[in-house]
Amino acid sequence: MWSVWSQKSTMWLGALLTLLLCSRLQSQENSFTINSIHMESLPQWRVQNGQSVHLQCTVDISTTSLKRPQHQVLFYKDDVVLRNVSSVKNAESFFISQARVHDSGMYKCTVLLNNKKKTSEESRLLVQGMPKPKVTLDKREAIEGGVVTVNCSVPGERAPIYFKVEKFERDPKTIKLTKEKNSLEQNFVTVEFPIGEQDYVLYFTCQASISLGFQTETSETTRSEEVTVTESFSTPRFHVSPRGVITEGDQLEIKCTIQVTPLAHETPEIIIQKDKAIVAHSSRGSEVAYSAMAMVEHNGNYTCKVESSRLSKVNSIVVNITELFPKPKLESSSVRVDQGERLDLRCSIPGAPPANFTIEREGTIMSLGQNFTKITDGWESGTYTCSAGVGKVVKKSNAVQIKVCGNISKPRIFHDTKSEIIKGQAVRISCQSENGTSPITYYLLRGSDILENITKTSNDPAVFRDNPTEDADYKCVADNCHSHLEASSEALSIKVIAPVHQVKLSILRNSEVETGKEIVLQCSVTEGTGPITYRFYKDKDSKPFHQTISNDTQVIWYKEQASKEQEGQYYCIAFNKASVTLSSSHSNVLMVKVFLASWKKVLITVVVLGVVIGALIVGAKCYVLRKAKAKQMPVEMSRPAVPLLKSNNEKVAEPSSEANSHYGYNDEVGNHAMKQPNESKADPVNSDVEYTEVEVSPAEPHQVLGTRGTDTVYSEIRKAEPRSGEHRYSRTEGSLDGS
Ligand SMILES: *[C@@H]1O[C@H](CO)[C@@H](O)[C@H](O)[C@H]1NC(C)=O
Ligand SMILES: *[C@@H]1O[C@H](CO)[C@@H](O)[C@H](O)[C@H]1NC(C)=O
Ligand SMILES: *[C@@H]1O[C@H](CO)[C@@H](O)[C@H](O)[C@H]1NC(C)=O
Ligand SMILES: *[C@@H]1O[C@H](CO)[C@@H](O)[C@H](O)[C@H]1NC(C)=O
Ligand SMILES: *[C@@H]1O[C@H](CO)[C@@H](O)[C@H](O)[C@H]1NC(C)=O
Ligand SMILES: *[C@@H]1O[C@H](CO)[C@@H](O)[C@H](O)[C@H]1NC(C)=O
Ligand SMILES: *[C@@H]1O[C@H](CO)[C@@H](O)[C@H](O)[C@H]1NC(C)=O
Ligand SMILES: *[C@@H]1O[C@H](CO)[C@@H](O)[C@H](O)[C@H]1NC(C)=O
Ligand SMILES: *[C@@H]1O[C@H](CO)[C@@H](O)[C@H](O)[C@H]1NC(C)=O
Ligand SMILES: *[C@@H]1O[C@H](CO)[C@@H](O)[C@H](O)[C@H]1NC(C)=O
Repeated sequence: MWSVWSQKSTMWLGALLTLLLCSRLQSQENSFTINSIHMESLPQWRVQNGQSVHLQCTVDISTTSLKRPQHQVLFYKDDVVLRNVSSVKNAESFFISQARVHDSGMYKCTVLLNNKKKTSEESRLLVQGMPKPKVTLDKREAIEGGVVTVNCSVPGERAPIYFKVEKFERDPKTIKLTKEKNSLEQNFVTVEFPIGEQDYVLYFTCQASISLGFQTETSETTRSEEVTVTESFSTPRFHVSPRGVITEGDQLEIKCTIQVTPLAHETPEIIIQKDKAIVAHSSRGSEVAYSAMAMVEHNGNYTCKVESSRLSKVNSIVVNITELFPKPKLESSSVRVDQGERLDLRCSIPGAPPANFTIEREGTIMSLGQNFTKITDGWESGTYTCSAGVGKVVKKSNAVQIKVCGNISKPRIFHDTKSEIIKGQAVRISCQSENGTSPITYYLLRGSDILENITKTSNDPAVFRDNPTEDADYKCVADNCHSHLEASSEALSIKVIAPVHQVKLSILRNSEVETGKEIVLQCSVTEGTGPITYRFYKDKDSKPFHQTISNDTQVIWYKEQASKEQEGQYYCIAFNKASVTLSSSHSNVLMVKVFLASWKKVLITVVVLGVVIGALIVGAKCYVLRKAKAKQMPVEMSRPAVPLLKSNNEKVAEPSSEANSHYGYNDEVGNHAMKQPNESKADPVNSDVEYTEVEVSPAEPHQVLGTRGTDTVYSEIRKAEPRSGEHRYSRTEGSLDGS
């Protein structure tokens, strides 16, 4: 059993091995090579549209094998694979049953055998002759304002195709519109053509072309069927009545009519226009009319327009109307009349035909006649016209502007501030004439000079501004259209107060003063309107030692016999109503020195020596004469020398006590800085103080005398103030200090 099985299997195995070996031997031994490949077109490379074409690829392969090897053949058009076949044949072909323009292109074939590949040369297939396009229309009858849709196609061909579609009028043959379209997707286009006013019988043509890059294949032109166009509405027609000559006063009617096709899908609008103005219109119906009483103003070119959304038809006519009578003319003796004078208006028609006249002012009838005469009362100003009527025809004249000028009333002059102003401030002066026809021109006069003029169109006041530097008298003069002389106002006085300017303190003569000599201080200002208050200060004292009020720009303070007490630093201030601050009116500081007079020193020495010598002499004499008598005399004789010295001391001391008291007085004055001079003079307290002060030193007979004189001298000085009265002043030095 086993041996039989083994024999059988050995035999099978041997057969299998042989087969395997054989096949290996075969594949190893067979060799292939592609000798050539070429392509040809049957019948030709250049064919007519619609012909059939065979593109044949022939391959020449050499092999050691007995069998023909299986190879692949690929057909390309413009580098794109068209066909892929597996073949053992020498030749394979690609068949085009009906060649089209779009089949034109560069063809080649490739053979693939194992890893070997060979490609034929590239050849161009050219399909000539573009077929005639097909044209279809959506309608055979069209209406003005509508559209016709044209379908132009090239069956069998492929996009992109370029189409040119044209619209023609048949009779006479004229091209109306050309539309060109490139269809990228389909082999047809649909184009809409509008149907217009001048279209009657239309047809369309179509031409198609395909671009092959190196050349373009263009078809013949195909003509469509004809389309007949019906009018949507007719051209408008004018009907003017009355026929023939039209005279003013006739009933004029200008009518415009059209005919509308029942087929029309919209009713057009009819408009009658004269020049640029629309005089009549209608958006429904087939007519519109403009009617009016004929006047020459209606002469002109009338246009009738009929418009639908896409269509417009126009007609025009010139209307000529004969004039019945010319326009009336209004004349006035004068366009400007003074109130109270006569206004004369006359209306006339050239040729003077009989007519009815009216004269009006701004809608109010002033006269029913040809003439209007009136003595004016001021209310007749305005625009006048006249109308002349003949039958129904009424004509208006030119307008005449009449101005009736009312008498101007005396202007009132007034201003906004007090009657005093500070120099540099502006003053507003108003002038107003309550009555009088405007416009009114106001002139402002300062003195006799015209400063400015203002014209007001109402009776409101005119407001002027001025900056007077000195007292001024103002006046207004008002003038209007009235022929009388202008009216003048009352005078308005304005007082200008100048603030004090540059306060200066100076000493007359030397600033170094001998005792017993006089000190004269002058406080002055370069500018300032009186009354000016002057105050004198010494050293750091907060209260002035002297105050005076004067209209003058300088005042003097006087001290007859100077003593060491007067030495010091002086200043003054000056101010008036216009001064803003006291500090602004401060003067310079002046140093005054007081030294002892040399003759005084000598005198004192001489007197002392004399007294001593006299005493000695007297003493000696007494000693000789009254040796035995008492020795008291020389002691008594020495006494008079003491008061002499003492009086000197007192005199020096006095002003200081007085000065103190006067400062007290000045304090009072300081608190009433703006008091009038006579007011402070009448101050009883001050006089009392003066008096008591002087009474303090009764021991001195000389002083007592002086004291008694105080009151009288004081008043005298007041009268003489400020520049005179210096000598008397000196006697009451203390009291005068304070005044
Ligand atoms: C041709 O066809 C074969 C099989 O049908 C395929 O394997 C091959 O890729 C194709 N060649 C090309 C270039 O398309
Ligand atoms: C135009 O005509 C072609 C061929 O007759 C047709 O295929 C196409 O549908 C038409 N196009 C239109 C929009 O009617
Ligand atoms: C009237 O007006 C129309 C439109 O403006 C113009 O075409 C026409 O020529 C004019 N006619 C005359 C007579 O001026
Ligand atoms: C109108 O008619 C008058 C005569 O009736 C003629 O003299 C005039 O020239 C015409 N005007 C126009 C604009 O036609
Ligand atoms: C109007 O005045 C003119 C002269 O100013 C005169 O000739 C005419 O007769 C007057 N008309 C009437 C209706 O008073
Ligand atoms: C003036 O008016 C009167 C009354 O209205 C009328 O009877 C007369 O005919 C008119 N005159 C003229 C010239 O129009
Ligand atoms: C107008 O004023 C002047 C003087 O200002 C005077 O003579 C004249 O009578 C006045 N006239 C009237 C109508 O008031
Ligand atoms: C202005 O006119 C009115 C009325 O005519 C009169 O009462 C008034 O006095 C006049 N005023 C002046 C300032 O003349
Ligand atoms: C009025 O003032 C202007 C300048 O403001 C001047 O030109 C004009 O002449 C003045 N008019 C008169 C009448 O003085
Ligand atoms: C200063 O001037 C005014 C007005 O100019 C005058 O009323 C007043 O009396 C004068 N005062 C002195 C003290 O002269």
